[in-house]
Amino acid sequence: MAKEKVLVTSALPYANGPIHLGHLSGAYLPADIYVRYKRLNGDDVIYICGSDEHGVPITLTADREKVSPQVIIDRYHQANKKAFERFGMSFDNYSRTSLSVHHQTAKEFFLEFYNRGLFTEKKSLQFFDETANMFLPDRYVEGTCPKCGNTEARSDECENCGSLYDPSELKNPKSKISGATPALKETSHYYFPLGKYQPALEKYVDEMNSKYGWKENVLQYCRGWFKDGLKDRAITRDLDWGIKVPVDSAAGKVIYVWFEAVLGYISSTKELSQLKNDPDLWKKYWYDPKTKYIAFIGKDNVVFHTIIFPAILMAWNEGGKEQYCLPQNVPSNEFLNFEGKKFSKSRNWGIDVDEFLDLFPPDLLRYTLAANLPESRDTDFYWKEFQLRNNSELADILGNFINRTFTFVFKHFDGKVPALAKLEKIDEDILKEISYYPKRVADLFEKFRIRDGVNEIMNLARDGNKYFNDTEPWKTIKSDKERCGTTLNICLQTIYSLAELFSPALPFSTEKLFKMLNAKPVRWDESGKPQLKAGHQLNPAEILFPKIEDEKIQLQIDKLDDSTAKQTTESQLVSYEDFMKIELRVAEVIEAEKVSKSEKLLKLKIKIDDTERQVVAGIARSYNPADLVGKKVVIVANLQPAKLMGLESQGMILACDNTEGGLFVINVPENVKSGTRVK
Ligand code: MF3
Ligand code: ZN
Repeated sequence: MAKEKVLVTSALPYANGPIHLGHLSGAYLPADIYVRYKRLNGDDVIYICGSDEHGVPITLTADREKVSPQVIIDRYHQANKKAFERFGMSFDNYSRTSLSVHHQTAKEFFLEFYNRGLFTEKKSLQFFDETANMFLPDRYVEGTCPKCGNTEARSDECENCGSLYDPSELKNPKSKISGATPALKETSHYYFPLGKYQPALEKYVDEMNSKYGWKENVLQYCRGWFKDGLKDRAITRDLDWGIKVPVDSAAGKVIYVWFEAVLGYISSTKELSQLKNDPDLWKKYWYDPKTKYIAFIGKDNVVFHTIIFPAILMAWNEGGKEQYCLPQNVPSNEFLNFEGKKFSKSRNWGIDVDEFLDLFPPDLLRYTLAANLPESRDTDFYWKEFQLRNNSELADILGNFINRTFTFVFKHFDGKVPALAKLEKIDEDILKEISYYPKRVADLFEKFRIRDGVNEIMNLARDGNKYFNDTEPWKTIKSDKERCGTTLNICLQTIYSLAELFSPALPFSTEKLFKMLNAKPVRWDESGKPQLKAGHQLNPAEILFPKIEDEKIQLQIDKLDDSTAKQTTESQLVSYEDFMKIELRVAEVIEAEKVSKSEKLLKLKIKIDDTERQVVAGIARSYNPADLVGKKVVIVANLQPAKLMGLESQGMILACDNTEGGLFVINVPENVKSGTRVK
């Protein structure tokens, strides 16, 4: 295949917290595996990333810690950069959007559009916190999504259903600063005419999909937005932190973080050019419309990479100057959960990359995550599965095959690759099988089916073990040393292929493996052919994948249980004030009858002081209606009325199950008057 010019980006993570396993599975590990494979394939690849250092998530973290945003971004930029390195991410550059090269790029795009008259200036109503005396963009406000009812929606965007709306449509808005209900106040912003680009964007998505096959989940999001109709988007914000709008009349405003962050990919490539002393390097990729540009992201970023970023680049390209390349594919992943629940920093659920790598080597994590990437649906990280994948796949299949082969070759052939003699059918079969692997795996990787590709490679190690067992070198060493040498030669060729094929997913262990083989990787498509010459000296083996003991895993699970227990007790505790909001009162039953067509329900008339109410209660199986009349019960008097089988119920009677499964009302002592409050 012809050499391709490939530009790969992974979403720029916010520098406002540590990287956790969910991030890795979403936009980083699959991209790194793809990039490493492309490099071995002989393609011309650059891999670009960096910290996203503006926007509300950062200022919120800074507010919470009572430090400046600069402190936050410095801390997490360094920490995340280092964590990515430990994990083996092979970025060509990891930049940051606070650099002046990025500010310049963002301002250049802004001014180009501004001067062309592309933006409209519109007055709109934005949330304003009177106590904090500031506008509240995006995540400074939380409320209920007008589309799906998610109660953690942002002022103009819902992460749950992906819809964008006007702040005035958000229900029950609350300020994250003061907790107060914010007012809507007029402000003026520049709008990017996204609507104008809808036809071009639809054509773009269609074309890319028919040529390169976009993922179904990504297409669905796009179709949804197109169907709703793209609306013009405000691309400025009333905030201090960010890139100042380079227009005099816009004092106190910054460029909307998403407008500039996506341009961070370009700035990061520019920084790489500076670092490499090759000032035009970035243009070779970005200004070539034929560049294969692949943008790896998580599902919460789809709209920004399939609609907003392409629209910005289209708008630039219309100016007739340089022509930027647009993403050719946007392989977005779903989410990785942790032991059945969402990762959550605030609820202390999950594990950071650094913490993890203090406990286990990076390849074990890379393998477990890669074998279970959330490519088509959400998946989970489980400690037990991590242990199992290590012990029964990496150690028992891959490690065992390598180890038994090396041990044998050192014991009987002085650590030199034995010669190949006459081949039998079983030898030819496995050699043929090995030769198919590079293409088979490449086809999967090219379709961004990284998980299937990695799992496929483990099958070659299974083939290797089976071949070792079937050819029984421990017998042939005594009966036919030449035959024995032939089969071990083939085992070593298989190991060589495994080293190459696994190197994108397991870069650390395969580096050691190549040292053991005393060999270097070749081009990907060559790696299915025997590479080791007879007589080639190997280096002694080391154990690449030791087993993980139960205790070590149990320790992690116990930690988890601990924090879960803490969480539940905290969240289950109710303050006295909250308890007192529930008005429990004694009531007297004055009428009771069965509800027709229901086995469970009774319709009661009850009296609290002098007022009567109707209550429907699920106690028909335990009481004769007549026996209830005159009985005193406890009811929740201030419960919102509800309808049961079409009957209004104005309150709820307290009752509990007994051991036989009957439901009985709580008894009230004789001399308590109806209406008395229960506390
Ligand atoms: N910072 C964003 C996030 O973590 C991703 C930004 S991707 C970019 O969700 F392209 F806009 F930079
Ligand atoms: Zn929603």
